[in-house]
Amino acid sequence: MPRAVKQQTTGKHTGYGKVILFGEHFVVHGSEAIVAGISQYTECSLELTKGKPGVEVIDNRPAVPGYIKEKRAEQEKAHQLVLDHLKIDTKTDGLRITIGGPLVPSSGIGASASDVVALSRALSELYGLNLTEEQVNNSAFVGEGGYHGTPSGVDNTAATFGGLISYIRKDGRSVFRKIKFSKTLYLVVIGTGITASTTKVVGDVRKLKEDNPKKFAQLVTKYNTVVEEAMIALQDGDLHAVGRLMNECHKLCVELTISCDELESIVNCCRENGALGAKLSGTGRGGIAVALVSSTQQRDRLVEALQKNCKEAKFIWKYSVTPAKKPSL
Ligand code: MEV
Repeated sequence: MPRAVKQQTTGKHTGYGKVILFGEHFVVHGSEAIVAGISQYTECSLELTKGKPGVEVIDNRPAVPGYIKEKRAEQEKAHQLVLDHLKIDTKTDGLRITIGGPLVPSSGIGASASDVVALSRALSELYGLNLTEEQVNNSAFVGEGGYHGTPSGVDNTAATFGGLISYIRKDGRSVFRKIKFSKTLYLVVIGTGITASTTKVVGDVRKLKEDNPKKFAQLVTKYNTVVEEAMIALQDGDLHAVGRLMNECHKLCVELTISCDELESIVNCCRENGALGAKLSGTGRGGIAVALVSSTQQRDRLVEALQKNCKEAKFIWKYSVTPAKKPSL
């Protein structure tokens, strides 16, 4: 049972956004994914509503149009799953959940995972639960089930720990490690503004697997080679190879039927304008694409080209994923 309940949280409780570089959907079926936590985050604060039962959500996140409304029912389910998992009862005293932070929620950027990670951390403070990072991650995994029935766990893991992570779900357990890499990854993330249902797209991929197991197995074999090579390229700092492999991965995503016209226009525009590689990222059928470039100058040039030439690029963000510095003595 929760102890030492406070009236409201005082700490800053956050969950990172993420960009999947390799392995969306394949990771649901047991392959390894490579995912980058990004510095933008969702923030959560809580207030006990004494004598007023239930949960009230104040959502101040700067989401793409339509996102918050479209995800509201799933979000309610996700929050309730987290509360149940942490054995928090709101039947007598309720909760006011306020969420915000700089992460712009859109499909693909890990907004749902960052929401339930930030909520789990905030609940830990309010109810004196002293959750470890591992327990925060587990709680968020349960919450992710509300957003889309069968999450792999990659998003909540990136949202909890950040950094560049290798992730695999094995025998019902999350196995992940931080990847040691030597060169900064300059990324452009491009939003279509289309909110996709992860439940639906994951369901369609599962159906494709059931209808054509042989073809699906071939795609998985090809993908496993791509991700294996990508891991080596990242560790060697061979960004040209990383880019080429992102293009390969995108092709496999097309075969999974998770791309769409808007994503195709965006990745083509990125490749025509100096990107080392470009692919859809996350759920697909809308959401976001990610492009890798070689420098900040190249990134500025690509952003300009997208703004000028690609009407499908409704939102454009610049990110860098930086190798962790060695701790100084
Ligand atoms: C969504 O960001 C990533 C998917 O692979 C689903 C999952 O891994 O849970 C589509």
